[in-house]
Amino acid sequence: MPHTYSTDDELDRSTNTWMLAGVVLLAALAAMFPIYRSYEPGARDGARTAQAASLAAEGETVWQFNCSSCHGLAGEGGTAPALNSEQFLQSATDDQASNLIAVGIPGSQMSAYSFDFGGPLTSEQIKSVVALIRSWEPDAPDRPDWRDMIGG
Ligand code: HEC
Repeated sequence: MPHTYSTDDELDRSTNTWMLAGVVLLAALAAMFPIYRSYEPGARDGARTAQAASLAAEGETVWQFNCSSCHGLAGEGGTAPALNSEQFLQSATDDQASNLIAVGIPGSQMSAYSFDFGGPLTSEQIKSVVALIRSWEPDAPDRPDWRDMIGG
């Protein structure tokens, strides 16, 4: 019996074809990974933006009932500082704002709003009102005098 397996052109060609297909498939998968990676943060940003928007919509109700009488309907100020000011929004982080809203400013009209400090709001409501205040930032007017209050 002669050895024929190493000279079986048919088999060689078929093996090469499958190997090539494997390499191509591997290359395609490897190429998809960075494409996925570049798309995925965008999808996450989108989800985050949508979540912030729905939180801010909840915050609108909280704002109207609890804050607008002093700070103005659109945060433009009144007997309390203007929180829609570019200068305020750039200087305060979300954490600082929510702590301040929770605890209040002793000796001022700004009382504590957190349940934990005898106020009317849950931490979720405080989070939502902070999201609302933050949502004003893109159109915030230039107001370096944001702390000037009527009668204050
Ligand atoms: C009765 C009036 C009144 C109401 C109602 C009120 N505030 Fe205030 N708020 C003030 C006053 C006055 C100040 C400024 C106090 C100071 O600095 O002496 C203030 C300050 C603040 C500040 C800090 C600004 C800074 O100086 O950094 C934030 C943030 C704030 N209020 C958010 C809120 C939010 C949110 C609500 C509703 C949940 C609210 N306030 C309701 C009167 C009010």
